[in-house]
Amino acid sequence: MSSSISAQALSELNPLPRLLMGPGPINADPRVLRAMSAQLLGQFDPQFRQYMRDTQELYRGVFETANTQTLCIDGTARSAIETVMVSIVEPGDRVLVASFGRFGQLKAEIARRVGADVRVIEAEWGTVFDLARIESEIRAFSPKLLACCQGDTSTTMLQPLAELGALCRRYGVMLQVDATASLCGTPLPVDAWQIDCVTGALQKCLAGPSGIAPITLSDALCETIMRRRHVEEGLRPADYRPGAGRIITSNYFDLAMIIDYWSDRALNHHTEATTMLYAARECARIFLQEGHAAVYARHALASRAIVSALEAMNLRIFGDTSNKMPNVTGVWIPDGVSGDRVRTAMLDEFNIEIGTSFGPLHGRIWRIGAMGYNARRDAVLTTLAALETVLAGEHHRFTRGAGVDAARAVYQAG
Ligand SMILES: Cc1ncc(COP(=O)(O)O)c(C=O)c1O
Repeated sequence: MSSSISAQALSELNPLPRLLMGPGPINADPRVLRAMSAQLLGQFDPQFRQYMRDTQELYRGVFETANTQTLCIDGTARSAIETVMVSIVEPGDRVLVASFGRFGQLKAEIARRVGADVRVIEAEWGTVFDLARIESEIRAFSPKLLACCQGDTSTTMLQPLAELGALCRRYGVMLQVDATASLCGTPLPVDAWQIDCVTGALQKCLAGPSGIAPITLSDALCETIMRRRHVEEGLRPADYRPGAGRIITSNYFDLAMIIDYWSDRALNHHTEATTMLYAARECARIFLQEGHAAVYARHALASRAIVSALEAMNLRIFGDTSNKMPNVTGVWIPDGVSGDRVRTAMLDEFNIEIGTSFGPLHGRIWRIGAMGYNARRDAVLTTLAALETVLAGEHHRFTRGAGVDAARAVYQAG
């Protein structure tokens, strides 16, 4: 054994059992962890191909879509966002980004890096867009693609999407929705809402780890992608004809090749992250077994409990509460209280993680999540009880116990 390697580095992995009540990641459902301990398989093993097909079928259910191309990208949520953009957008194509937080900025950043002509419209952090504003920007800019979040975790705001897809179709614009943080926490019926592409993640309301991203693509969007199909050397089938469109400039994120890989053609691409696929499959099974309506109701109930508790603790909720994400709540840090000290005490003394936010909101709000496996009464009440204790230590003025009582009352009322 090399003497230069520290005892710490060589110590056994044994993390403290944190309760993750921030904006995500959250604790995985134990069923997901069990699924991830299943033995590895090769990606062309007939058993594994069946698990891939199962996963596609399950996510069609999750997304409420008939889209054939519903699959998973190996990577975190931003890898799926980037995969879509690099595969659709050609240099100079116009992309409109409707940004109402840090993750809107991320989509603008990715679009610029793929060479798009990007126009960003911004809603003040803590608010969302009304449709008329987006429509007038579409008219003025005629983009190929409109990209926006459903829920932007940085501001805890939820953009209403029910009519945005139809609006985009009227103007011949493709719509890309980043539902990393909202998928399975709030309704997102992809076909009914006419959304061309949705990307998600497991580490929020799907109760799994980060590292694989479910995605669904409309047939029309796939046609655009398949016009750019260029199979890499060494894998080309005998009947191969390259697409007429420009080659996709990323190999790893080439959706045309990824579609070929997931299809019955089973053209090789990357080595599938077997364990992550097991996780994605189990997350979808858990969600569908509980049922869309029941899961959304569980998140909404947790949100109501947290909001009423925080208000009873003499705290002010951040942003436009009528457009708040149900799975994460922003709350202003009161004057005279150190946001970081509170978060550190929550973590060190109670093993509970809550978040702050980014940019202008860093150190000004906390974000308390209750999502996926953690959108449970016990997790919510434990977090609120700890927060009350720590806030009392900060000399914040409120009635001790009022927060937990208010949350319990919400749960008792159902
Ligand atoms: C709305 C949204 N989009 C994108 C991301 C990026 O996700 P990832 O860190 O999995 O790449 C996040 C992460 O929290 C997010 O909340």
